[in-house]
Amino acid sequence: MQDQLKEIQNSFQQKLKEISDIQALDDVRVQYLGKKGKFTAVMKGMGKLSKEERPVIGKMANDVRTAIEKGLSQQRNQLEKAIIEKRMEKEALDVSLPGKLQTHGTLHPLNMIIEDLEKIFLGMGFSIEDGPEIEYSKYNFDALNMPKEHSARDFQETFYYTNDMLLRTQTSPVQIRTMLKEKPPLRIICPGRVYRADEIDATHSPVFHQMEGLVIDKNITMADLKGTLDLFAKKLFGNDIQTKFRPHQFYFTEPSAEMDVTCFKCGGKGCRVCGNSGWIELLGCGMVHPNVLRRCNIDPDEYSGFAFGIGLERVAMTKYGINDLRLLFENDTRFLSQFN
Ligand code: DAH
Repeated sequence: MQDQLKEIQNSFQQKLKEISDIQALDDVRVQYLGKKGKFTAVMKGMGKLSKEERPVIGKMANDVRTAIEKGLSQQRNQLEKAIIEKRMEKEALDVSLPGKLQTHGTLHPLNMIIEDLEKIFLGMGFSIEDGPEIEYSKYNFDALNMPKEHSARDFQETFYYTNDMLLRTQTSPVQIRTMLKEKPPLRIICPGRVYRADEIDATHSPVFHQMEGLVIDKNITMADLKGTLDLFAKKLFGNDIQTKFRPHQFYFTEPSAEMDVTCFKCGGKGCRVCGNSGWIELLGCGMVHPNVLRRCNIDPDEYSGFAFGIGLERVAMTKYGINDLRLLFENDTRFLSQFN
């Protein structure tokens, strides 16, 4: 039995050296100390020993068992340590490496224009209104005094949801919504997206931006319109800018006009930006039509007002010298980063 125990200890030491992972270690433990293990098997023979032999063999068996257990636990410690070291190596972080440079975002040029315009009009006592992009056709057309047969109502130009709902083709319906919900005096602007079924090219896009303006009060005249919009142009492009009003036609204003500004680039001499005319067309405007006031329950004999609509892409393109509308919608960061 002594020989058997010695043999067990020796073969265990040999096996221990070959162990390379925790699973193998467990297997070896079972092979020796498990219920059917080698050591357990030998111990079953203890009963047959004589009284004298028993303590000697017993002590020896104990020593062997302790040695096996010690060997197993040492090996386990080593294996676990190796696992941790391997993991640390794999997950190591070199804190001395230079960081990745973050690119800085910028405001989109259209948003910069909207902010500029809002600042200017807020400074003149206007407030900012909002309106839905999905609009009733009665607000987008009828209440604005646009005849039933107007070409803008055409399916070719307007995105309809149903017969009476559409994607607004202009920010002008916000005039109607404001007048229906608030009593004059009113002084509002409304920047926002508008939609028209246009093919995309350098000057057209099915979605673009406008800013509407509306002033309603007692005794508002064309002089107020001209004074306000001239001041606005000077604040936007500089004090040297001059404005000129050309007669025009809109259904919701009478009289109506378009306002041009002298080219901020050449000062009116004529250059590439203004197409050699010296003038840049900036907005449409006019005195609010009495029919529109009446539709909104405002008495045209008591109140009058003016309105204007500005194409924001056009302002951004002239102000920043952008020659293709598509650049404003493609969101190419190489383009946008120039506005840093
Ligand atoms: N809604 C017009 C358009 O989309 C622009 C406009 C012109 C708005 C004159 C106005 C205005 O408020 O008075 O072409």
